[in-house]
Amino acid sequence: MKIFSVNASPTTTRGMTHILMDLFLEGAREAGAEVESVDLQKKKIGYCVGCLNCWVKTPGVCVQDDDMTELRQKFIQSDYFVLGTPVYVDGMTAQAKTFLDRLIPLVDPYFEAVDGHCRHKKSKSKVPELVLLSVCGFCELDNFGGLVDHLQRISRNMQTRLIGSILRPASRILVMDKILPDQVKQIKQATRRAGKELVEQGSFSDQTLAEISQECIPTEIFIDGANLFWDRCIEAGKFPV
Ligand SMILES: Cc1cc2nc3c(=O)[nH]c(=O)nc-3n(C[C@H](O)[C@H](O)[C@H](O)COP(=O)(O)O)c2cc1C
Repeated sequence: MKIFSVNASPTTTRGMTHILMDLFLEGAREAGAEVESVDLQKKKIGYCVGCLNCWVKTPGVCVQDDDMTELRQKFIQSDYFVLGTPVYVDGMTAQAKTFLDRLIPLVDPYFEAVDGHCRHKKSKSKVPELVLLSVCGFCELDNFGGLVDHLQRISRNMQTRLIGSILRPASRILVMDKILPDQVKQIKQATRRAGKELVEQGSFSDQTLAEISQECIPTEIFIDGANLFWDRCIEAGKFPV
């Protein structure tokens, strides 16, 4: 089984998305999957220019021969695709969206009705099933609402399936091992287990997802702590990534 993942956080290995993704992929690897992960920020990927030459002139081939040529192949050769993105302005990062836009050469231009809805015909390329892995700064789970809805729509558009979403609000809790050792340990163990569950069951248990996204600190205390953190960052003139 092949898993292809992208980390679409511009902070790459310094960010919380990376921590969560690493744990998830570790679990998947331990369960026997072949895993490949790419930091989009380190790749050369231009915006889609909307020419649609990839549909009408050179079917399946984009006018831009940049790193997406290789990444598109990795995408279609995988059984599962994991999109790792932090929440940016209630959605995915620009890196994630640009990657997804640039998958358009894989799409068949012709339309058909699917469940009474106008869709593109199913791609001739094998499209992997999708997993969303995301972190966000605020502490409520509903901050992922727009992103999860978007991924559900994308999976419907690509005529594939969103297997599930690995979501960690209050992302910086992932580096608070000293303050919240038990919770951080449980979140990390559950994230590893989620990777294993994907390989062994093709789904995630509710218990695992709930442990990953668990509330660790009541909102009022979280807000006070976050504001102290901002005081310190402003004093130092530096955000710790
Ligand atoms: C430009 C920008 C926009 C953000 N927008 C949101 C947001 O809408 N909601 C939220 O909860 N967090 C938001 N955040 C916080 C990030 O999701 C959070 O810091 C996350 O840990 C960043 O990912 P990283 O650690 O991989 O860099 C935003 C951060 C940035 C830099």
